[in-house]
Amino acid sequence: TNVVIVLGTRPEIIKFAPVIRECIDREVPFTLVHTGQHYSPDLDEVFFDQLELPAPDVHLGVGSDSHGKQTAAMLEGVEEVLFDVEPDVVLVQGDTNSTLAGALAAAKLNIEVGHIEAGLRSFDREMPEETNRVVVDHIADYLFTPTSETREYLEREGLSDRIFVTGNTVVDAAHQYADVAAEKSTVLDELGLEPGEFYLLTAHRAENVDQLDRFSSLLDGVAQFADETGWDVVYPIHPRAQNRIDAFDLEVPDAIRLVEPLDFLDFLRLESTAALAFTDSGGVQEETCILGTPCVTLRYTTERPETVYVGANCLAGLDPVDIVDAGRQMLGKRPDWDVPFGDGRAAERILDLLTAPTSPTAGTIPA
Ligand code: UD1
Ligand code: UDP
Repeated sequence: TNVVIVLGTRPEIIKFAPVIRECIDREVPFTLVHTGQHYSPDLDEVFFDQLELPAPDVHLGVGSDSHGKQTAAMLEGVEEVLFDVEPDVVLVQGDTNSTLAGALAAAKLNIEVGHIEAGLRSFDREMPEETNRVVVDHIADYLFTPTSETREYLEREGLSDRIFVTGNTVVDAAHQYADVAAEKSTVLDELGLEPGEFYLLTAHRAENVDQLDRFSSLLDGVAQFADETGWDVVYPIHPRAQNRIDAFDLEVPDAIRLVEPLDFLDFLRLESTAALAFTDSGGVQEETCILGTPCVTLRYTTERPETVYVGANCLAGLDPVDIVDAGRQMLGKRPDWDVPFGDGRAAERILDLLTAPTSPTAGTIPA
């Protein structure tokens, strides 16, 4: 099996890392294509270094632009690579514009597509990510889906013949790196934090940070909650959010400490030791659930409802009153929930399926 892997953003690098490692270990030939959607070193290079990934074979250098222009440039670039490499299968992960471009370029050339983290649905078509997920699932040949909920969504959309429940590779990554983070990361000392006595915040979703009233409501809610205990909020800030703060000339409440985006080990360390995480990130909802830290999601919908069902996460929305309520409800919660995203062997299952001597039959893969 000759594989092309297309990735472009921070979460894709992290969630593809276990798959890339598995390809290397099994000597499966692969070509790594980086679209260049993320290019700031702290969203990109730092993860290649820390996760010890090979440098991309092809870098498209697409960069930031409107959705149409960015996706079009990636589509053209990936197609060139596919003409050249003629792979058996193209792998994409998640729901970004890089995911969409990789899948569409391959599908148009009748090359098989494997979608890792298939089947997630927020049912909110205003999110650009929802459009990407739905389109990619419907043009993919292998839907590597994390949970039984996501399998059901795909079944309802008539895609039963290509579903493989593998778990999410984020569990593989968190398991592989959480202990290393505890051993090696010095981030708590550097930021002067005591375990269990600070909050972690991440917010970068376009629908939250691109509108001044929504962004300031979110920050006010988190700060009001933090003021109740007197603990700091650490906010490793995504460049999209930093750009909005600058453009809006937004005053960030005192309780919230902005820091540069962190590398994976430092971020995992903060996720593991925070009293509570506030987030609008997909990956952070999953990782806090895996690491045993209660989470408050600053959105009205989630495509990770499993985290709410098991009691690890609470959907608060953006109203400060609701954020404070959710914080009180989740603070001190015992992390006795079951992790719904698999056992940390998702990458292994994906490679088993892709390298099977005969076409695999769709269905649940036994543990
Ligand atoms: C993208 C994904 C989102 C994912 C997020 C992960 C889409 C539609 N969105 O959002 O689903 O959750 O990545 O972090 O694919 N910028 C930089 N440096 C960079 C990259 C971006 O400064 O390396 C700034 C630019 O001003 C850019 C803005 O961030 O315009 C947004 O970047 P973009 O890639 O369009 O979307 P993200 O918000 O990063
Ligand atoms: N992350 C990180 N450093 C940070 C913030 C996040 O390493 O400062 C990691 C986090 O552990 C998770 C991923 O980035 O694996 C989440 O990415 P992001 O929130 O950008 O995207 P989303 O998951 O919402 O698509």
